[in-house]
Formats: sequence, structure tokens, C-alpha cells
Amino acid sequence: MTTTTAIGIDIGGTGIKGAVVDLGTGELLSERIKLATPKGGKPDDIIETTRELLETVSSGVGDLPIGVCFPAIVKNGHTMSAANVSKEWIGLAAEDLFENGLDRPIHFVNDADAAGYAEARFGAARDVPGVVLLTTLGTGIGSALLNDGVLVPNTELGHLEIDGHDYETKAAYSAKERDDLSWEKWAHRLQKYYTTLEALFSPDLFIVGGGVSKNYDDFIPLLDLKTRIIPAVHRNNAGILGSAALAVKFPG
Ligand code: BGC
Repeated sequence: MTTTTAIGIDIGGTGIKGAVVDLGTGELLSERIKLATPKGGKPDDIIETTRELLETVSSGVGDLPIGVCFPAIVKNGHTMSAANVSKEWIGLAAEDLFENGLDRPIHFVNDADAAGYAEARFGAARDVPGVVLLTTLGTGIGSALLNDGVLVPNTELGHLEIDGHDYETKAAYSAKERDDLSWEKWAHRLQKYYTTLEALFSPDLFIVGGGVSKNYDDFIPLLDLKTRIIPAVHRNNAGILGSAALAVKFPG
């Protein structure tokens, strides 16, 4: 029997979210639970908060496959970077640490890759041929590169250097809030960012994810690009959906 239900957990710089997912439809079968990411984003604290969250999400649903996504390069279960969480994550065997802390096997991936996989399977990139580039605009900028629906993991295009800046520090949604930018001023930075991506990848489609993509009408029409650019379908739930779906695709 194929598993059609799994739990997805999305760890972010500001919140940790989780829910039970129906993998046939891509719908959430439970309430989405969100807990604040512990200050400092240290490994023990994040794992403990994830344990609390899983306890609530999994109550009454039994042992389902669990996918966890995280805002860092994830290579062979290790976190190899840490832009918006504690530097203590760099080089850690994070997948093992989560499995020990949660006392359950998990599948562990980068958060933007999970979001890209979710959009390819259940959303805006479904059945889209060619090169699709999904960017999540949140605390940082995450990226997922798909070619004919196949994901190239860990592209980390939020850290492109533009004008001497690690550009997520200028164009993430957190930068709009920090610098109190109008939609127009923020769109000016996004224009620079997406033009650079366009020159490097000649994509067939850009998908904009992250919570702010619900306000897409306020900034996407301000961008002048050769490439079609559309909002993600699953926005803030894409990480949950994608990590749940990957946990079943790659049972751990
Ligand atoms: C991290 C990426 C992550 C993105 C979105 C970046 O700062 O380097 O790994 O996907 O933020 O959370």
C-alpha cells in the first residue's frame, strides 16, 4: 500500500510550522501548528521546539513518515551553512540530531528545495516544462531550481552577490520590513535581483513563494522581466507539503 499521508515540518528563521498532509491532494489534513523559533536558533533549542510541535501535530494520527526542512545547505544529512540560524549548525549531522531528539526517523532537506518540490507536485510548477526557478522571499531568500520537474538541490541563490552585497540582505521580505521600504522601493531591489537571475539561468518561469507572495499584486506587477513571474500556490505551506512528500518519496 502506498502511503498517502505524512507529516511536514518547516523550520524557519522566525517560526517552526507543521501539519499532517494528504499527499494525494496536497491539502493539509490537520490544523497548521506554528511555534516561534527559539531566539538565537541554537541546535538544542530548535530540536526541543520541533519535538514539542511534533507532539501536537502527531497526536491521534499514529506513526506517519516525517519530513523536516531547514534554512541551510543540506548535504548527506548535514547542515553546511547557517545564514539566519545559529552558526553552531554549520557542519552538524543535523538529520541524526533531529532523529535522536524526536525519537523517529525523518527525511531532512533544505526549506526552499522542499517548497520547490511542493510547487512542482501540487502547485504552480506542476507539469511546467523547462527551467523553473522558485524563490522564497522571507527572513532570507531561498531558491529551488527545477528542470522538467527535476530538482537541482542546494542552489542557494539568495546569496548571489550584487553591488557588493549578499543580496538576500537587501531583497528578502525581512529587508523590506527592516528598512521600512514601500512596495515600489522594494520592487526596485527585486528588479535587480530577478534581472540577475534571468541573465544567469534564462528560466522559463519564476515562482515567488514565502508569506509575502499573498500580496503579489503589490509588487509583481512592478517588475519588468522577460520571464513570466507568478506567485506560488502554496505560499507559506509549501515547505510543509514538500518535506512531507519527500519523506514518502525517500523513506528513511
Ligand atoms: C539560506 C537558505 C534558505 C533560505 C530561505 C537562506 O539564508 O541560506 O538555505 O533556503 O535562507 O530560508
